[in-house]
Amino acid sequence: MSTAAAVEADGLYVIYRERDLETVALRGAEIALPEGTWTSLMGPSGSGKSTLVHVLGGLLEPSGGRVVIDGEDITRLPPAERAQRRRRRIGMVLQRDNLHPLLDVGDNIALPLRLDGRPAPHIRSRVRELLDSLGLSDRARQPVGQLSGGEAQRVAIAVALAARPTVLLADEITGELDARTATGVLDILARVRDDEGAAILTVTHNPSVTERADLRLRMRDGIVIE
Ligand SMILES: Nc1ncnc2c1ncn2[C@@H]1O[C@H](COP(=O)(O)OP(=O)(O)OP(=O)(O)O)[C@@H](O)[C@H]1O
Ligand SMILES: [Mg+2]
Repeated sequence: MSTAAAVEADGLYVIYRERDLETVALRGAEIALPEGTWTSLMGPSGSGKSTLVHVLGGLLEPSGGRVVIDGEDITRLPPAERAQRRRRRIGMVLQRDNLHPLLDVGDNIALPLRLDGRPAPHIRSRVRELLDSLGLSDRARQPVGQLSGGEAQRVAIAVALAARPTVLLADEITGELDARTATGVLDILARVRDDEGAAILTVTHNPSVTERADLRLRMRDGIVIE
């Protein structure tokens, strides 16, 4: 492959155990996300898409396999170091509950930068820049509970992008948006790919999201197929 991979993962296994029920959610899954490329992942409900996103994002430790981000294997890092890599290199937007309900829009966007110990002037200018570029300039002090679905997803994208990650993972982010708002959100992803050279992964059931992607993958029964 000519393009460098921002993410390379292979041999991924995840087994959920709940009482006497075992679910093998990933069974040897493998994926590579090239820099500056938008990859779409589709597949039936329960095929392991969200589980894969959690593993790639370092939220869930697989029982087998490895995840290499920018050339570094994050799979076996101690939890604190894994969390630090996650904050700096990976932006994640999940289907819901991305935002801290007690913080306003600006403080939600600032939070990952504060946790990473960035200086206050840097945080202020980065938050301002993101508010402007996502069309949220007049929302900085609004409690996130008062946002519409589309606004909340734009704030979630701003939070995910705050640290200028090399990888953006987005799980069903247009699921609850009307077609026009969804298009606006997808335009933002395309801009991030083009301007920042980020590797983007969108998980979706929606063919109009997949249409926007450069690469199209499918999942079935815990593995990624073309
Ligand atoms: N926390 C959990 N505990 C136990 N089983 C789980 C857990 N999360 C997921 N599973 C199971 O693992 C399998 C894969 O789930 P996953 O959420 O990754 O699927 P998905 O492809 O994202 O589905 P959808 O399209 O419905 O979002 C499913 O059988 C699911 O029931
Ligand atoms: Mg899912």
